[in-house]
Amino acid sequence: MKKIQKKQGFIDAVVGLQWGDEGKGKNIDELLSHGTYSAVARFQGGANAGHTIKSGNMTFIGHIVPSGCLQKNIELYIGNGVVVDAISLVKEIAELKKLGFNVIPRLFISNRAKLVSYLHPFLDQAEESYRNKGGKKIGTTKRGIGPAYSDARARRGLVVGDILLSNFDQKESNLSEFHMNLLRMYKARYGFEFSEEEIKEARKKWLDALKELKKFQICDLSFLIQKRLSEGKNILAEGAQAVMLDIDFGDYPNVTSSNTLPANVCLGLGVSHTYLRNIYGVIKAYTTKVGGGDFPSRIKDEAVEKLFRDAGNEFGATTGRPRMCGWLDLFALRYAIKLSGANKIFINKADICPSDKIKIVTGYKRGKKVLEEFPLYLNQITEVETEDLPGWGNANYGVKDKKKISKELFSYLNYIKEKLSDLEIKIISVGTGPDRNHFFNWDK
Ligand code: GDP
Ligand code: IMO
Ligand code: MG
Repeated sequence: MKKIQKKQGFIDAVVGLQWGDEGKGKNIDELLSHGTYSAVARFQGGANAGHTIKSGNMTFIGHIVPSGCLQKNIELYIGNGVVVDAISLVKEIAELKKLGFNVIPRLFISNRAKLVSYLHPFLDQAEESYRNKGGKKIGTTKRGIGPAYSDARARRGLVVGDILLSNFDQKESNLSEFHMNLLRMYKARYGFEFSEEEIKEARKKWLDALKELKKFQICDLSFLIQKRLSEGKNILAEGAQAVMLDIDFGDYPNVTSSNTLPANVCLGLGVSHTYLRNIYGVIKAYTTKVGGGDFPSRIKDEAVEKLFRDAGNEFGATTGRPRMCGWLDLFALRYAIKLSGANKIFINKADICPSDKIKIVTGYKRGKKVLEEFPLYLNQITEVETEDLPGWGNANYGVKDKKKISKELFSYLNYIKEKLSDLEIKIISVGTGPDRNHFFNWDK
């Protein structure tokens, strides 16, 4: 007799396909309302992320708490691939409580996740002072992400499970002594200023947050996820940052310190790749970027760039910095789709088009050469090829029905679909405003 296979769950992932801030938080929150998933899991990054969720009058920006926090039946996982900023975590949980969401009973944190220490943000800024000597700041979020991942790779870092050990104080003081030596070196050699007072204060805040963190559910998350999958439950993996900020495939060194690609879902959660099913890629109808490095599709006319920044409220959800605005970059997008394996796409901010015409970047040039491959160094790009399409002003704000959109937006979306047709992607929906229900479906 044939053995009946027990139904297993699957994992879908949502990742950004540009330089971050594509609206992942909004799409994740909406996807989680369908009843398909029992949990949402962060698998990389840390509190450098800023994922906005908006429902009616309520707005929440999650830096470290997964974007299922406003969906009461969804479990929230923080995987081993994440660098955990305890101060942010405790703060966000308190904020959520004020909004009427007590997430502690449904929040599970991997004991293998890496701990961001109180000195990592100082080191982050100190490293920027070193880079600044060469005039090449990355413009990090100052959340200590790079130093926390460096410590993890150098095998001297702390993991979340360590806070439960009786010798945690010793481990922590060894690492802090090492960090202080580094900071003194940065001060002496690169002029990085810090005061003992600031450090004392940061340490106190951090230790207070760790006391709270100890009360949360710290567990073998890989085991829990495998259990849920074996119960037939599905999980949504939440990407932070985006493909163009991936440490291996972005514009190195102007990248973040983790692999943002969905290939990292398995390693960042501790599950086999065989569970991975759909990859949802998120883009904006244009492009934005914060921080250092080149941005080939950046809008050249400053006044037009400002129109986009203002209309799209393009200021960082984590740092408040103004975002650079660029045209939709199909060359970079094709690269990101191929690397990520995205088969379903969300396009956000289609309500934002404050100019008469809109450009789309279709190719990169280095001198006279039109590139076939995505370049290792973006600063070698001398020109981009573009196409012009008619703009649509603010005619599409809040539209929820494909039949009601303006003909200009319709042609724009068809143009994108056509240009990507060989990649066999489906455009799932198109965002027309920040609220979770501001969108219309596109492909059936
Ligand atoms: P994430 O990091 O990818 O989650 O994106 P952010 O939250 O950093 O930035 C996206 C911003 O755009 C947030 O302020 C969202 O509320 C907003 N947003 C998302 N989708 C849309 C949309 O379709 N239209 C408009 N106007 N705003 C949107
Ligand atoms: P979400 O998840 C946009 C950028 C920083 C900087 C570079 C490295 O909200 O899309 P880091 O602090 O990670 O060492 O900074 O990466 N960056 C982001 N840009 N959205 C993000 O996250 C980002 N997280 C990091 O601006 O250029
Ligand atoms: Mg963001």
